[in-house]
Amino acid sequence: MERYVVVFLVAMCLSNVLTAAADWNILNQRTKSGLKITLKNYCESWRMNVELNNIREFSVVPSECTSYIGKYMTGTQYKVDSESAIDECSVYLNTICDLKKDGKDAWIFDIDDTLLSTVPYYKKHGYGGEKLNVTDLEEWMKQGKAKAIDYSLNLFNDIKKKGIQIILVSSRREHLRSATVDNLVNVGFYGWKSLFLRGTENDCETVEAYKAGVRNELMKNGYHIWGILGDQWSSLQGLPYAKRTFKLPNSLYYVA
Ligand SMILES: *[C@@H]1O[C@H](CO)[C@@H](O)[C@H](O)[C@H]1NC(C)=O
Repeated sequence: MERYVVVFLVAMCLSNVLTAAADWNILNQRTKSGLKITLKNYCESWRMNVELNNIREFSVVPSECTSYIGKYMTGTQYKVDSESAIDECSVYLNTICDLKKDGKDAWIFDIDDTLLSTVPYYKKHGYGGEKLNVTDLEEWMKQGKAKAIDYSLNLFNDIKKKGIQIILVSSRREHLRSATVDNLVNVGFYGWKSLFLRGTENDCETVEAYKAGVRNELMKNGYHIWGILGDQWSSLQGLPYAKRTFKLPNSLYYVA
């Protein structure tokens, strides 16, 4: 009997050790309030707060979360989240009853990670875990091989069919114009009204200020900006506002 108890206790200890071993890759971490959380809890919360624009101006994804972010950005959930955002654009577009139909109804799109995907680039650079090398990213962009985000292409075409002018406003720089146009056209985006890229005169201002400046100019020229679809808060915020804004998920990088 005694022997049985000893074996039992040893087995109990061993199972505790094994459980602990199985937990080795989970952050044995607690929130400030003492709630015990896993690495997934931690990274999911990081991602959510990036989307909510509570976490701002991060220069790299926290190293413990690059694997989680990589899985998210290449997995089904990113697609589902993005497609839901696009569906909401369609719902909204179908409820607009007072289009001006004066040739100045407009919709603004971002380019990177809104129309074209840069995920393959970031995949090669640790899913946002490496500090951005602009020269290297621009060399990739110059190759013009970025793929279309297909549900964005569907929305783009629907908007075009409604007779709404499509305006592209990107934080890409002016020297990438021909590569950007070629890339867009090659994957099916064409028929936009104008394409704004960042000139050297915009270098000293934030992307948010540059994009707000473009909207200001458009509105002064009589455009009615019904909506914006972008993956960065800096595309949506700042005065003057569009009537509606729609945010696609992107936890790989932050453009201020
Ligand atoms: C940035 O990328 C360029 C082009 O790939 C490379 O020549 C350069 O060494 C990189 N800079 C840094 C700091 O890694």
